[in-house]
Amino acid sequence: MTDVLPAGSLDGKVALVTGSSRGIGADTVRYLAEAGADVVINFRNKAPRAEKLAAQLRELGRRVLVVGADLTDPASIGEMFDAVKAEFGRLDVLVLNASGGMESGMAEDYALTLNRDAQINVLDAAVPLLGDGARVVFVTSHQAHFIRTTPTMPEYEPVALSKRAGEDALRERIPGLAERGIGFTVVSGDMIEGTITATLLERANPGAIAERRESAGKLYNVSEFAAEVARAVVDEVPADNTRLVGDVSAFAAE
Ligand SMILES: NC(=O)c1ccc[n+]([C@@H]2O[C@H](COP(=O)([O-])OP(=O)(O)OC[C@H]3O[C@@H](n4cnc5c(N)ncnc54)[C@H](OP(=O)(O)O)[C@@H]3O)[C@@H](O)[C@H]2O)c1
Repeated sequence: MTDVLPAGSLDGKVALVTGSSRGIGADTVRYLAEAGADVVINFRNKAPRAEKLAAQLRELGRRVLVVGADLTDPASIGEMFDAVKAEFGRLDVLVLNASGGMESGMAEDYALTLNRDAQINVLDAAVPLLGDGARVVFVTSHQAHFIRTTPTMPEYEPVALSKRAGEDALRERIPGLAERGIGFTVVSGDMIEGTITATLLERANPGAIAERRESAGKLYNVSEFAAEVARAVVDEVPADNTRLVGDVSAFAAE
C-alpha cells in the first residue's frame, strides 16, 4: 500500500480510468483503489494485464470491473458505459488517460480520432452517470499542452496537435459540467521516463530524454506522474482547470 492519497479518501466512490491496463493509467487506477474507490479498468488490447491488475485490487477489498473497449469505436464506448451502469449504477471519477497516435499502420487521422473525438465521446457517454461532486481529469503532456507556443519533435507533433485539440474540445464542456457540479482538471506532464512514447522519441532523436532531464532538472517516472494524476482527482480543481507537473520553464505560456 502507498499513501499517495489519504486512506479512505475515495471510500464509496466509483472511478473509471481509460487505458488502465498498463503504464500511467494502471498506476493511477491502483492509487484510486488504494484510497478506497471501486474501479473500472479499461483496456483495448492488454486483457491479461488488466485481469492481473484487477485481481490485485480485488485483494484490497474493492469491486473491480474490467472492460475491453476500443475508444475510437463509439459503439464500444456505449457498451462500456452500459457495463458500468449495470455493475455500479453510477460514476464519481472519470480519468481520460488513454492516448495514442504513434502506432504504425493506423489511418492518417487516427491521432485526432483517438485524442480528440474519442475523448469527447467518452465524456458525453459518462455524463449521465456522473453526479454532483464528480470529477473528470484529462491527462496530457507539456509537449501537447504548450504546442501552440513551444515546438516539439516532428515525430510527436501530430500527436501533440491532436491532444491539444482534444484538450480544447473538452475545455469547451467546462461550463456545462460545472452546472451539473462536475469538476474538470487537465493534468500535464513532461516526458515520462520509461514509457513507450519516450522510448520511441528517444529512438528518433538520440539524446532527447537526457536533454529534457537536464533542462527540467528531473523527469518524472510512471508511478510519480500517476500519483499527480490521482491527486488531481481529490485536490480542489485549480482556478484555470490546469495542474502542471514539474518544471515548465522550457515551455512558453500562451
Ligand atoms: N509517455 C509520456 O512520456 C507521457 C508524458 C506526459 C503525459 N503522458 C500522458 O499520459 C497518458 C498515458 O500515457 P502512457 O505513456 O502511459 O501511454 P501508453 O503506455 O501508450 O498507454 C496508453 C494506454 O491507452 C490505451 N489505449 C490506446 N489506444 C486505445 C484505444 N483506441 N482505446 C482504448 N484504449 C486505448 C492503451 O491500452 P492497451 O494497452 O490495451 O493498448 C494503454 O492502456 C497519455 O494521456 C499521455 O499523453 C505521457
